[in-house]
Amino acid sequence: MTDLDQLKTDALTQIENAPDAAALEALRIEFLGKQGSISGLMKTLGKMAPEERQVQGPLLNGLRSATADAIAARKEAFENEELEARLASETLDLTLPAPDVPQGSVHPVSQVMDELAEIFADLGFSVATGPEIEDDWHNFTALNMAETHPARAMHDTFYFLQDRADQTLDNAPNTRMLLRTHTSPVQIRSLVEHGAPIRIIAPGRVYRSDSDATHTPMFHQVEGLVIDRAIHLGHLKWTLETFLKAFFEREDIVLRLRPSYFPFTEPSVEVDVGWQDVDGRRVLGGDGDAPGHGWMELLGSGMVNRRVIAFAGLDPDEWQGFAFGVGVDRLAMLKYGMDDLRAFFDGDRRWLSHYGFSPFDQPTLSAGVGARA
Ligand code: PHE
Repeated sequence: MTDLDQLKTDALTQIENAPDAAALEALRIEFLGKQGSISGLMKTLGKMAPEERQVQGPLLNGLRSATADAIAARKEAFENEELEARLASETLDLTLPAPDVPQGSVHPVSQVMDELAEIFADLGFSVATGPEIEDDWHNFTALNMAETHPARAMHDTFYFLQDRADQTLDNAPNTRMLLRTHTSPVQIRSLVEHGAPIRIIAPGRVYRSDSDATHTPMFHQVEGLVIDRAIHLGHLKWTLETFLKAFFEREDIVLRLRPSYFPFTEPSVEVDVGWQDVDGRRVLGGDGDAPGHGWMELLGSGMVNRRVIAFAGLDPDEWQGFAFGVGVDRLAMLKYGMDDLRAFFDGDRRWLSHYGFSPFDQPTLSAGVGARA
């Protein structure tokens, strides 16, 4: 009896004095582990005579639970101490200045492309893409520009050097590879792949060997294509007007449609947009050469040539439609007021932080497609 009392006092004292969690765990194993001293005493119960067990059982059980309780209490105390220490060391000084804001911004070209996708999605257009390394057939021939067509000369095309073995007379013109000079080959690819009816825009990079303040060897276009039954020039005009008013976010946009020529549209229409001078006076054609006034040539368009529809494998007596091609960089310059196209591609961080957009400026028709004030 006295032995058990002594044992209990010893155990509780040791537990009380355990310096840390590891020492406490060692004591737990020493007393209550499988080979532990108290566990050993518990095992002797089995060999006792029933009367003795009736006396010793409660005593030993009492010893065991008193020890287990003491260990649990001490363990909780250690855990609380640790938590307190961590809370004390992990303070957050809310008076410190905020960290640097992120430096990146959305390039105006990407922003404008997102704006266009938003506007045209509302008109039922989906976004299509095509390769920048294109073959001659898609870029020219299928767009009604045969090998000898004079319009090819206007494109200042970058051609790839070709393996001589490919240059048999039959395939040379059509398989010759080039950097696409416009997004119009996506018209062909989309029609061949999906057939009609179709309503797509195709944004992307295009390349021409040309360079000055308003021309860079790489620039961006968005192609539009609608093919359906009974589509006419009125649909084209309405679509362009609706698009430009949404894009410039003003109702007083004036369009000037001029007869023009593209091999892949007939008739062809070139579209200029008029804007207002600083006084808010509407500027129409006529004084177009005065500084700050006039028309900006913005896009080429027209009714898709019957031959193009046939090249894409459709029956031009059944299907017709319109197409247009817009310079994205020009749209960005006009809307956001940059005057040198070359700066778009210099990668100058000062330019980007001045003209770039926050990634949070998602264009939406409800909030305004150009979110920046
Ligand atoms: N592809 C023409 C260009 O790059 C633009 C255009 C597209 C014209 C579609 C008419 C129809 O100049």
